[in-house]
Amino acid sequence: MAEQSFSYPSGLTKRERYETFLKDFAPFIEGEQDIISTLANTAAALREAFGFFWAGFYLVKEPDWLHLGPFQGSVACTRIKRGRGVCGTAWAEARTLVVPDVDAFPGHIACSSLSRSEIVVPIIKDGAVIGVLDIDSDRLNAFDSDDQEGLEQLVRLLC
Ligand code: SME
Repeated sequence: MAEQSFSYPSGLTKRERYETFLKDFAPFIEGEQDIISTLANTAAALREAFGFFWAGFYLVKEPDWLHLGPFQGSVACTRIKRGRGVCGTAWAEARTLVVPDVDAFPGHIACSSLSRSEIVVPIIKDGAVIGVLDIDSDRLNAFDSDDQEGLEQLVRLLC
């Protein structure tokens, strides 16, 4: 496999960065059948392209539980119950949650005390949520509709 960089010039707007990232990333994962390999590379590429504080996946492994999957960042909680925290709520509601201030989200699960804002995007396959993409920032209000659009496009590439 040819070496691939996801490091982009600092002058790009966030929207331009997502557009460039998605264009580079789609062919990069094409043909890989192992979902864990794909998710591990996704977390690494997101971190490289956007410098996220924490970026990774929780996967549905039991009827009511998410288990920690591939990620980049500091160690994190290994199990999250359906309906709990931002991840479990995004799963239960099958929709993206943008949380500008994690302290204001009832039941937020603090894996790191440095996390201040968060976005969680469900991964939906054949009508069912099979996992979530979770991204944390150490800044308040770090995520907006550009992140939501870009990350929803990204998760559609994953399954
Ligand atoms: N904050 C998440 C837990 C996962 S960590 O952020 C990596 C939540 O409330 O579900």
